[in-house]
Amino acid sequence: MCGIVGYIGAQQAAPILLDGLSKLEYRGYDSAGVCVFSDTGFQVAKTKGRLAALCEMTENGTTITGTLGIGHTRWATHGAPSNENSHPHLSTNGKICVVHNGIIENYLVLKEFLLAHGKTFFSDTDTEVAANLLEYYYEQEGDLRAAACRAVQDLSGSYALGILCTDYPDSMLAIKKDSPLIFGFGKGENFIASDVPAILRYTREVVYLNDGDMVEFTANSVSFFDAQGNALHKTPEHITWEMSAAEKGGYPHFMMKEIHEQPKALRDTISPRIKDGRVVLNELTLSPDYLRGVRRIYIVACGSAYYVGCLGKYILEKTCRIPVEPILASEFRYSEPVLGDDTLVIIISQSGETADTLAALREANTLGARTLAIVNVVGSAISKAAHDVIYTWAGPEIAVATTKAYSTQLSVLYLIALYMGDILGTLSNEEYNTMLDALIRLPDRLSEILTEENLASIKAMADECKDHHDVFFIGRNLDSATCLEGSLKLKEIAYVHSEAYAAGELKHGPISLIENNTLVIAVAGVSTLFEKTMSNVKEVKARGAKVLGLTTVNFKEEIEKTVDRCLLVPQTHPLLQPSLNVVPLQIFSYYVALVRGCDVDKPRNLAKSVTVE
Ligand code: F6R
Repeated sequence: MCGIVGYIGAQQAAPILLDGLSKLEYRGYDSAGVCVFSDTGFQVAKTKGRLAALCEMTENGTTITGTLGIGHTRWATHGAPSNENSHPHLSTNGKICVVHNGIIENYLVLKEFLLAHGKTFFSDTDTEVAANLLEYYYEQEGDLRAAACRAVQDLSGSYALGILCTDYPDSMLAIKKDSPLIFGFGKGENFIASDVPAILRYTREVVYLNDGDMVEFTANSVSFFDAQGNALHKTPEHITWEMSAAEKGGYPHFMMKEIHEQPKALRDTISPRIKDGRVVLNELTLSPDYLRGVRRIYIVACGSAYYVGCLGKYILEKTCRIPVEPILASEFRYSEPVLGDDTLVIIISQSGETADTLAALREANTLGARTLAIVNVVGSAISKAAHDVIYTWAGPEIAVATTKAYSTQLSVLYLIALYMGDILGTLSNEEYNTMLDALIRLPDRLSEILTEENLASIKAMADECKDHHDVFFIGRNLDSATCLEGSLKLKEIAYVHSEAYAAGELKHGPISLIENNTLVIAVAGVSTLFEKTMSNVKEVKARGAKVLGLTTVNFKEEIEKTVDRCLLVPQTHPLLQPSLNVVPLQIFSYYVALVRGCDVDKPRNLAKSVTVE
């Protein structure tokens, strides 16, 4: 989970590479580097630390001249973040230079082989193995593409590689397997990148490379090949979204911007799929007959996407009356799941490239289940590997902590619930219409939470709570799943230890951790269970906890009797309520992170796309 970018054209490459990397920092940000090819050969500049350090080192790229180059922003896997381990990496004789996103799984075996054949290594990375392997085959083949075709036969794992060779002063080669890579067509210039925002300033015409694809290009020509070196024809896709979607647009952080984009993201995801008062999922190839035969649904994902799956269990079981099991992708793949063609596996992923999720999806395909992916990134590996895909139209999500992707994933589950509930006859007309009506209005309800006044009062609560070290989130039913997400947000961006517990479960152990002034955040959005949750609140209050309660406006007076502070959200359809409840929790974590001086958009040790197992 690193970001790579490459440029060939008439302009100076380094500033373009640095600009591209600035749009890819969400993929990793512990070191950065560029290599530019000029008359004097390769000029490599790389350093540990944020991209800003590289910009300073190269005076924003102006100290490096040349019109062809590759760049990299790193999230360390093999070897600590250090200058030596930063990319780009050169081969032993300095003729080949590579940037790499992914993991070469058999790098140790290859390294031993290459050492035995006289190659030397200066870093702890797996990437240097790729550089030296290319050199090894280039010495035999005398042709870079032929060398790449042989090298990929030896490489196991995932890679998007940008490759330069001193014998090819006007061209670049890039290859891909299981890590994203796009090619961008310019006028008199061409690009490669891990993601569209890196090159959107320069071109909207792109090709998403498939696994095994190779691209060889100069400033004015491009050729695509498969892994065996056979020519391929590719048609460019036009990117329709605006650059502003990948910029902060006046907000101090991407996370705050993305929190505010949620109403629009929901509208964009929901509206096109509702026609004449019905949910229409034209993108699905699943027939009504197939859906009537589904006996079990798994929802497989990681992190926040998995927590959407936890909500999905309540939502789909209620609307479709089919057993639903949410399961972490990293567990699913090794659990020998019992699957067959009556099992629908729903895969959820913002990036569409999470390694565990992708592997679980492949396992489900192999075991004969039908797979349906809910994905945000168009053309991503997961979207391609699943039998069916429903895109969330959240737009690019840059902040490492997900907000709008989470919300849109949930909205797709509502669409599926309505669609399947209708086909299966498990929703009455009245239930269908009430839920659909609430779904259409959901973006407006969410906007009501994002007022200046609400933000200020959540900020005040965050200021008050900033010094708490251990926080408990408690809730019942749907709220218990919302708690998981609220707790993760606080952990990942504010570095505050927190636990999410089903409220009724506290007394079976964790209540012993509650002491004077322990912060408990109680989510009481399920109206039928409000009193039960309040009983649990009273139990923790009796042991000295400070309680922040979250509920719907109609329970204002009730909750104020029990908790120390309260957060209120509009009331909606019971199954849709989690969509609103999560929003104050996102904002709360944001402000706690801010007041604690954390880097909100780029939390330590994390990256946006987790392409390692
Ligand atoms: C948390 C967060 C992560 C992701 C998880 C899965 O804020 O963003 O927990 O949800 O890494 O990522 P995707 O959805 O890209 O598969």
